[in-house]
Amino acid sequence: MDTKQRLSQLIVKAIQGCKPEAQGLPSAEEIAACLEIPPERDMGDYAFPCFKLSRALRMAPPAIAAQLAAAIDDEALCQAKQMGGYLNFCLNRSNFARETLEAVLAAQGRWGAGDEGRGKTICLDFSSINIAKRFHIGHLSTTMIGQSLRRIYDFLGYKTVAINYLGDWGTQFGKMLCAYKRWGNRDEVERDGVEALSRLYVRFHEEAEKDPALEDEGRLWFKRIEDGNEEALALFGWFKELTLRDTQRVYELLGVTFDSYNGEAFFNDKMGRVIDELKAKNLLTVSDGASIVDLDEEHTGMPPCLILKKDGATLYATRDIAAALWRKDEYDFDKCLYVVAYQQDLHFRQWFKVVEKMGYSWAKDLVHVAFGMISYEGQSLSTRKGYVVYLEDLLNSAIQKARAIIDEKSPGLDNKDEVARQVGIGAVVYADLQNNRIKDIDFSWERALSFDGETGPYVQYTHARCCSALRKAEALAPAQPDYDALSDDEAQELLRQLSRFPETVREAAARYEPSIVTRAVTELCKAYNKFYYEQRILDDCPGVREARVRLTRAVMLTIRAGLFLIGIEAPERM
Ligand code: ARG
Repeated sequence: MDTKQRLSQLIVKAIQGCKPEAQGLPSAEEIAACLEIPPERDMGDYAFPCFKLSRALRMAPPAIAAQLAAAIDDEALCQAKQMGGYLNFCLNRSNFARETLEAVLAAQGRWGAGDEGRGKTICLDFSSINIAKRFHIGHLSTTMIGQSLRRIYDFLGYKTVAINYLGDWGTQFGKMLCAYKRWGNRDEVERDGVEALSRLYVRFHEEAEKDPALEDEGRLWFKRIEDGNEEALALFGWFKELTLRDTQRVYELLGVTFDSYNGEAFFNDKMGRVIDELKAKNLLTVSDGASIVDLDEEHTGMPPCLILKKDGATLYATRDIAAALWRKDEYDFDKCLYVVAYQQDLHFRQWFKVVEKMGYSWAKDLVHVAFGMISYEGQSLSTRKGYVVYLEDLLNSAIQKARAIIDEKSPGLDNKDEVARQVGIGAVVYADLQNNRIKDIDFSWERALSFDGETGPYVQYTHARCCSALRKAEALAPAQPDYDALSDDEAQELLRQLSRFPETVREAAARYEPSIVTRAVTELCKAYNKFYYEQRILDDCPGVREARVRLTRAVMLTIRAGLFLIGIEAPERM
């Protein structure tokens, strides 16, 4: 039971003692939810606003606070006092320290984990790369938010299915085949991979401006893919392989893995069911030769969802609907999350609505986890205009820059390459998961790689600092901890943050918001560094030292768990 719950039970008991006949009282949970953190530390650790009880008790708040304060008697937990209309609590600091540290250390690095997800499945559709396109920094957010949410749900005991819904269907692939047949060179494509394919694609558009007949040729090649023409499929399969090979390098750097790569093409032969069901349920109407589902624009503000084009071709939305039906059958998910940029908001709202109209109650379990745009050193990114920053390049320069900093700051470090990789990648990932996901991000080298302030290296450095203190402590004789030594404000602030960590993880899961974990870990680091400057960890008095060492270990484990949840490694030395 956490502190708030215990305090609220004390309050309930005190009310019953003072006014057994009172009616209409809030429940213990409601009281727990009302507990506030007082604005000034010396006012106590928690405060309960007694006006919440004045109607039920027919008394003025200060009188209630005074009566309850007198009735509360649990010195092991806290002292209660009246302050105006508030009932304030000062925790028994020594006991709070002991209980918190025992709980954190007993969790063995899994403080905050749980099993509330047992038996439940979460599908996460993220990263979802497009064939023949290089991974650029615009793909960082979907990849890292998805990866982080996956780890957070795993941590809470859910079964997760990470799906890379490949963008491997569309007329552009016909154009690419056409370009390859006309101007391509096998060795060059094999050597340069997706880079070579992009050049071919650009060339196609340049040439098609001069010779519009090329468009027809492109369509013809796409038709060949659709019809299963052997040459077309072989070439397209090769393009897919090249793309996956290129992206795999990035996934390896980031530590990202998937359970399924079933992409748009996989669902191509599963469209019939969608069309048949829509027809059977009278949802499909023909408009201008195309088949649509009307979404009652007047009320919903959503234009109709296009299901089949004039020529009978399916659309992005059709394939998403087919994929959702298939995933529900295959995984029986409790939720299916789509980590996709907010620009696709309408697309998701439309086809979610279609699934709802089809009568599937689980339509409500489809969630678009949207995020904002990323720019680079103040410049927005656009593939069209040719200004792109490839993710692999970005990660590699981050590693190089981290390496230069390490060479300067810690020339004696053993595994410099390994640490440079962890720090470089950590800096980029942290910058991505630092703010609410819907906020646009501007990536800046100076900010990302700074060792002070709110950055990946700062958090990793604090973790390494804890590890270093723990290594030094190992050499000293063990002792019984004296938890009174953790009564200072700095230690108490750390303990408070540690005790709240499980709640933080659950909030991040409920709001699909990794940044909640990022911020909590950052605050923990700030609080630890403050503690570190104010107090001597390796104190001469063994009991004091042991208490501070335990606190340090609990902080280290929690930083490490938090970093893991946002997909960042935690080097032990930097
Ligand atoms: N490949 C798509 C794109 O780059 C993203 C796919 C997102 N997932 C989905 N089920 N629609 O825009």
